[in-house]
Amino acid sequence: MNKIILNIKNLRKVFIHNNRKVEVLKNLNFSLKKGELIALTGPSGSGKSTLLHLISLMEKPTSGKIFFSDKNLNELNDKEVENIRKFKISLIFQNNNLISDLNVIENVMLPLLIRKESYKQSFEKSKKILSQVNLSNRLDFFPSDLSGGEQQRVAIARSLIAETDIILADEPTGNLDFKTSKEIFDYFIKLKKMKKTILFATHNRELANKADYKLSIINGNIKRVNGKK
Ligand SMILES: Nc1ncnc2c1ncn2[C@@H]1O[C@H](COP(=O)(O)OP(=O)(O)O)[C@@H](O)[C@H]1O
Ligand SMILES: [Mg+2]
Repeated sequence: MNKIILNIKNLRKVFIHNNRKVEVLKNLNFSLKKGELIALTGPSGSGKSTLLHLISLMEKPTSGKIFFSDKNLNELNDKEVENIRKFKISLIFQNNNLISDLNVIENVMLPLLIRKESYKQSFEKSKKILSQVNLSNRLDFFPSDLSGGEQQRVAIARSLIAETDIILADEPTGNLDFKTSKEIFDYFIKLKKMKKTILFATHNRELANKADYKLSIINGNIKRVNGKK
């Protein structure tokens, strides 16, 4: 039985821009189950990043509710928010947000060190995941010495290593070549097998079609489009 892990009710987000209201998300209702791999699609500016920011608690909804395993995410105290971010929900950003003073492996180890896993174990885990994104020969490079695609792969490795229950990704393969994109996607499939839930925004039609199904944002509403099954 597939269990619902995220439940979204009447979610609405309005931005005020130059004194004008921009209603980006009108009234979203959907749920995600454990072990689902879902593509989030929609034209540029349709609200994909906004939705991912709301789920990852980076922004607050104008109205509506987000439940994570029956917990209302809008009613958490600071400690609970911190806990959700460390262990439950992670976001791979569109721009990679690496720390420039840390080298590749240090950047990847960070989420584990923050939650107090041992240095040795964090190092070994990071090495392994970096080999899966083909960066074994870049462990001691600094972000500024990497190509854009390499930086993005480090960022992906850093988010994946936390192995949170829900992994959100904002166009994670946007600036990667097809072969690397496919490798990242294969890694998502591995996470799915581990019963993780992955929601990834993408413009890549081929990858979107390989998801379990697509959620498409059009005119502030969300529509489920059935995928491969
Ligand atoms: N902080 C903000 N203030 C005002 N408008 C915003 C803000 N963030 C996003 N928007 C607007 O919301 C709409 C959706 O943006 P976004 O979620 O980034 O779309 P997508 O990721 O699908 O390209 C855009 O029209 C954008 O201009
Ligand atoms: Mg976006």
